[in-house]
Amino acid sequence: MHTISIDTQQVLQRAHKDTFNGLQTELQSAFHTLTAGKGAGAEFTGWLQLPVTFPTELLGEIEATARRLSAQSEMVVVVGIGGSYLGAKAVLEALGSHFHHFTGDGYPHLVFAGHQLSPGYHAELLKVLDQKEYSVIVISKSGTTTEPAVAFRLLKKHLYAKYGDENGANRIVAITDAAKGALRTMAVKEGYKTFVVPDDIGGRFSVLTPVGLLPLAVAGIPVAGLLEGAAHMRRSILADPENNPASRYALARTAMYRSGKPAEIMVTYEPGLVYLAEWWKQLFGESEGKGGKGIFPASVTNTTDLHSMGQYIQDGLRILFETVVSVEKNKNEVVIPSDPDDLDGLNYLAGRNLGEVNLIAEEATRQAHLDGGVPNMRIILPELTPDTVGQLLYMFEFACGLSAYMLGVNPFDQPGVEAYKQNMFRMLGKINN
Ligand code: PA5
Repeated sequence: MHTISIDTQQVLQRAHKDTFNGLQTELQSAFHTLTAGKGAGAEFTGWLQLPVTFPTELLGEIEATARRLSAQSEMVVVVGIGGSYLGAKAVLEALGSHFHHFTGDGYPHLVFAGHQLSPGYHAELLKVLDQKEYSVIVISKSGTTTEPAVAFRLLKKHLYAKYGDENGANRIVAITDAAKGALRTMAVKEGYKTFVVPDDIGGRFSVLTPVGLLPLAVAGIPVAGLLEGAAHMRRSILADPENNPASRYALARTAMYRSGKPAEIMVTYEPGLVYLAEWWKQLFGESEGKGGKGIFPASVTNTTDLHSMGQYIQDGLRILFETVVSVEKNKNEVVIPSDPDDLDGLNYLAGRNLGEVNLIAEEATRQAHLDGGVPNMRIILPELTPDTVGQLLYMFEFACGLSAYMLGVNPFDQPGVEAYKQNMFRMLGKINN
């Protein structure tokens, strides 16, 4: 198995020396708090063991359900928001083909809904679904979130009208709480196939439960590989609590925060990793942004954003540090051709791999940002494969728990998300709000 690694040297060299006072002891204490289940929100740490306790029968049931949905669908609509969709979307984009909508890979196209309230998006989707064979996976841990509930109401009506009530219901899989919530009630009444979001795993930590694994299996992603990668990272972390990628990452970002760098940018050089950054932003933003504290997570995808955000990062307010997710070897490579006229002056690159040029762009940018006062660290993936992505997901989850405990907040709640909901319900006239 290829193993991911982290290089925090440049960041640690640029942290204020006094931030290190007691930092290692704080890290050890956070590590113990998290693994012993003694911290705030400890009842939501089921994800810690998940890669090694995942029942084989459940994996089989996920794969069998995915095969059934695939056999009957050209498209599968995944309905969910926040942690109920970002994990699947992130892994799908990281491991799938950029152009699978055009090339076809023998698996249904996954499309997402219920992650916003856009009328245009949902109207267009329903029009497309008029022409396609499709199924729906609806995901909501609470079973009461407005955005996916609205989208599911639209889709359920469309599906029942297209296939009839019974056949329509057979095309729906609900992933929700074992007992509570409107979605569970509906699933029981209508006879939907269901999977459970475990009680002890919150939305943004649920990518390696049926929440992430069922949609990914439908899209043909080898989900067992993700679990193996996560289990590998878990072993590395437990084997060496101080010197593993998650602990080193948590320590480095905490040192940056305490050195007057409250904003972290995840930097990627692959368009397939844009949603990994979105998943990461939710994980860290919702876990840490509390009580007037927390690192602000942002992201850029380069080299695209070097032509938009690059100026600010190089030269703007010096509150930033970067975490670069670097992929060493590409699945596919292209060689830059020679041109007899060389009118574009690019013959100096002829014969070189585009991947090599991309890596040089990354290194050149890292050095420029270091010179410009933006410390950066590198997380290195030898390749993008299910097991390296599984390692990365688990590493970030574990580091998030450590960082939040070092910050002094509960990583596993999200009280701030309620404020907009209460206003919206009041403005929309919801009864019994
Ligand atoms: O991490 C979280 O808990 C949240 O982001 C939820 O995933 C999100 O709000 C969706 O909630 P639910 O799955 O209950 O619909």
